[in-house]
Amino acid sequence: MIYLNGKFMPLEEACVPVLDRGFIFGDGVYEVIPAYSRKLFRLTSHLHRLQHSLDSIRLKNPYSNSQWHDLLKKIVAGNDNEDQYVYLHITRGVAKRDHAFPQNCEPTVFIMSNPLLAPSQDLLANGCSAITAIDNRWIRCDIKSISLLPNVLLRQMAVDANALETILIRDGFLTEGAASSIFVVKDNILLAAPKSHLMLPGITYDVVLELAAANHIPYEIREIFEEELQSADEIMLTSSTKEIMAVTRLNDNLVGNGKPGALCQQLQQLYHHYKTTTMRGDAPLS
Ligand code: PDD
Repeated sequence: MIYLNGKFMPLEEACVPVLDRGFIFGDGVYEVIPAYSRKLFRLTSHLHRLQHSLDSIRLKNPYSNSQWHDLLKKIVAGNDNEDQYVYLHITRGVAKRDHAFPQNCEPTVFIMSNPLLAPSQDLLANGCSAITAIDNRWIRCDIKSISLLPNVLLRQMAVDANALETILIRDGFLTEGAASSIFVVKDNILLAAPKSHLMLPGITYDVVLELAAANHIPYEIREIFEEELQSADEIMLTSSTKEIMAVTRLNDNLVGNGKPGALCQQLQQLYHHYKTTTMRGDAPLS
């Protein structure tokens, strides 16, 4: 069951006019929210980031937070799996093609949900491969824009190289992955690039840093040189759908000893514990 412009329906019945500005210009924003045991994880943070994206493209939020809560809960209830990831998408709506904003245009709102599958045993035991590439995206990567052509091309580079992710470098510094946030471990210190207009403020990124702080894991938020990435003891990628994953090969070189590192495994366990206790309604991070 999906939601489109006020109605719930099967995905096959959902249609959007070809003049939708999402189709014509990629003029819209989106969110991806995980739900565990049918409870939406970090919903407030996702709705906060959605508001930032909407404000940045000067599009009025079509719903209040409580309306979003209701809609998203109905979508989760109307789909089969206990663990799901909800995709929501808002465009500036349907109008005659003209780059400038149309007058009196109703936004298009689309919500769907897919099963959220646990990572395979192989990925957990062995980690994944990544490649590096120049970050050739625009300079408003803090907006969760549906215009994802650069990210699409960058991630396809990884797939073509039999890797899972492309890690992006801008002016000699790490920014993020094509569809994930990236952490580096060097000399037992967890390193994260500072949030800026050059990266998406990841919700999982926040959770990882909160877990590090609460569990006395030393961390630094600072610019990370490409050389530090290349010589890292551990690399991790994080996202709402991949959670925390070890990157064990970078551009065909082993990262550390080529197996998921100790800090990555510790953070995976902490994340698992945190998400399970949050879903039970227990106090977070205690
Ligand atoms: N992408 N950076 C980019 C460019 C991303 O696309 C994503 C997530 C992240 C991680 O953000 P979060 O932890 O809030 O999921 C960072 C989603 C999952 C997607 O586009 O499907």
